[in-house]
Amino acid sequence: MDTSGVNRSRLPREVLPGVFVFPDAAEVAHGAARRFVDCAWQAIARYSQFHVALSGGSTPRELFRLLASSEFRSQVDWPRVHLFWGDERAVPPDSPDSNYGMARRELLLRVPIPLANVHRMEAEDPQIGRAAHNYEIVLRRLLRLDDRGFPILDLLFLGMGPDGHTASLFPGSPLLRETTRWVSTPLVAKMNNARRMTLTLPVLEAAENILFLIAGPEKAPALRDVLSNRTQPPLPAQMVQPRHGQRSSDLGFSCFSALFLGAVLTNRSII
Ligand code: 6PG
Repeated sequence: MDTSGVNRSRLPREVLPGVFVFPDAAEVAHGAARRFVDCAWQAIARYSQFHVALSGGSTPRELFRLLASSEFRSQVDWPRVHLFWGDERAVPPDSPDSNYGMARRELLLRVPIPLANVHRMEAEDPQIGRAAHNYEIVLRRLLRLDDRGFPILDLLFLGMGPDGHTASLFPGSPLLRETTRWVSTPLVAKMNNARRMTLTLPVLEAAENILFLIAGPEKAPALRDVLSNRTQPPLPAQMVQPRHGQRSSDLGFSCFSALFLGAVLTNRSII
């Protein structure tokens, strides 16, 4: 704690433009919650609605709890928020593996968001191809389009696996070369051909603001490769190159085009 009473060891460090390292996962979640609020205010001021896609996996759990907490819940105009998902597993919504299910338990049941504003991927549908098409129809109905005709999310949360996958875009997948479809249903070989539903790379890249939340030392090697552009072919998380949005560090904690919030390394050096 310095003379100003600020505990500087808890503050994030910007180690590369748009790459913030936090002391731990709890601080990553706090940084992400602040970002959610800022992006919500900006989008609602500009478009009277806020379209945000949530990431899956375990890392966003703390963020969801924080957004539902007394510290953040009242800062968001929830009736103007529309929730989407970047990807989903082919499991029922009440399954412990459901990305929607986790968000419902930790966030949706605790904030005043209208059910009509919650747009989950129905990846458990036996006709998952039709469900993916229906999801594209929902995106087309609600989101504005960019100059290439892809839907623009105001904020997109993404995670990253130790192999550098993001959403359900895995290394070596032919889906990484997708240029037209918005939603796809890959079989993930390395997960015993588990079926997934995922937004495609052009849709991820069309987002106004992209926020990668990455926590855990097991992800350090992949994050180093992603940030140093060392890998050929590039890892999926490395391939997400935002097409929109203004990037300027003087905005402080407002919206950037792409940011990495991470607590991945004990020795706190990324490259
Ligand atoms: C999923 C995800 C996936 C996730 C990473 C990180 O459905 O699994 O969307 O891309 O973000 O695998 O997962 P963890 O946060 O659990 O490490």
